Amino acid sequence: MKKLLTTKAAAKILGVHPVTLRRWDRSGKLKAIRNRFNNYRLYNESEIKELMITPTKIFMEDMDEKQNKVNKLPLNQIILGDTIKEMKKFPSASIDLIFADPPYNLSQSNFKIKFIKSGGKDLDTNKGRWDEFKGNDFETFTQKWLKECFRLLKEKGSIWVAGTYHNIYLTGYLMRKMGFEILNEILWHKSDATPNLSCTRFVADHENFIWARKGKKHTFNYNIMKEMNNGKQMRSLWTRGKTAGGKKIHPTQKPEWLLERIILSTSNEGEVVFDPFIGSGTTAVVAKRLNRNYIGTEIDKKYYKQAVIRINKRI
Ligand SMILES: C[S@@+](CC[C@H](N)C(=O)[O-])C[C@H]1O[C@@H](n2cnc3c(N)ncnc32)[C@H](O)[C@@H]1O
Repeated sequence: MKKLLTTKAAAKILGVHPVTLRRWDRSGKLKAIRNRFNNYRLYNESEIKELMITPTKIFMEDMDEKQNKVNKLPLNQIILGDTIKEMKKFPSASIDLIFADPPYNLSQSNFKIKFIKSGGKDLDTNKGRWDEFKGNDFETFTQKWLKECFRLLKEKGSIWVAGTYHNIYLTGYLMRKMGFEILNEILWHKSDATPNLSCTRFVADHENFIWARKGKKHTFNYNIMKEMNNGKQMRSLWTRGKTAGGKKIHPTQKPEWLLERIILSTSNEGEVVFDPFIGSGTTAVVAKRLNRNYIGTEIDKKYYKQAVIRINKRI
């Protein structure tokens, strides 16, 4: 049987205000069903969920109209706040490259191991509150930030999303449904990975990166990559260590060499690189060094402050 939603519940799923849904109903963009008894608006839950992951042209155009009136891009700034709320303030089709290293949803296992086994350090798979989700919340969160990224990218723009088996399959599925075209999957093989201390699984010594485009064209600096790979075509398996490049200030900090390769290969000088989950500021530090404009959002005050200090210190 069809499950019906109130205007408020449907608006929550779509991440819009209920007033917007009423406006879409009146204009015919998204027609509501009427309750036979009180004439209240109702929405078919499966249609709303489908619209959320496969936004129709009308839906995107409506968002574009509103966003383009709102704001200019906050170039070369890190913004403290929730990335979805902040992204909604940026104009559509304004970003050249997005690098997203989102929560991987791996903190739920709460696996802890005492320092004796790990050779000097307590190890804990819990990365922090920002990586904890209940029920379907992780999927909804992933849909919402990906949808905003899709809107923000220029037609020739591309996006990289980092992950492990915990999040990457869901993310890739949602990206395809949303209209992204996957160009490559890069595997970062960590030459200095942490051993599997529980001794119940294989050592997880790689991370996955989906590289995808929004439209029919994209930037790929083939020759720079070939040069960096001693004159041979750059491959999709990148083997190198985790060493951060500078002091490590974040539990999931990405090494600078990795961001260097990503930014050099898929953007040009003067373009805009956006990181929705900036953490310790790695993307911004590297983008600045490579003469790109950067923008980052971060929800945690401690990381936000450390990222700003790090960016201002480094050339
Ligand atoms: C995987 S870490 C990114 C690490 C980063 N790549 C680095 O090199 O330091 C994800 C970051 O996203 C932040 N975060 C989580 N949810 C967020 C949200 N809704 N809005 C903004 N930032 C968020 C977390 O606080 C965390 O610092």
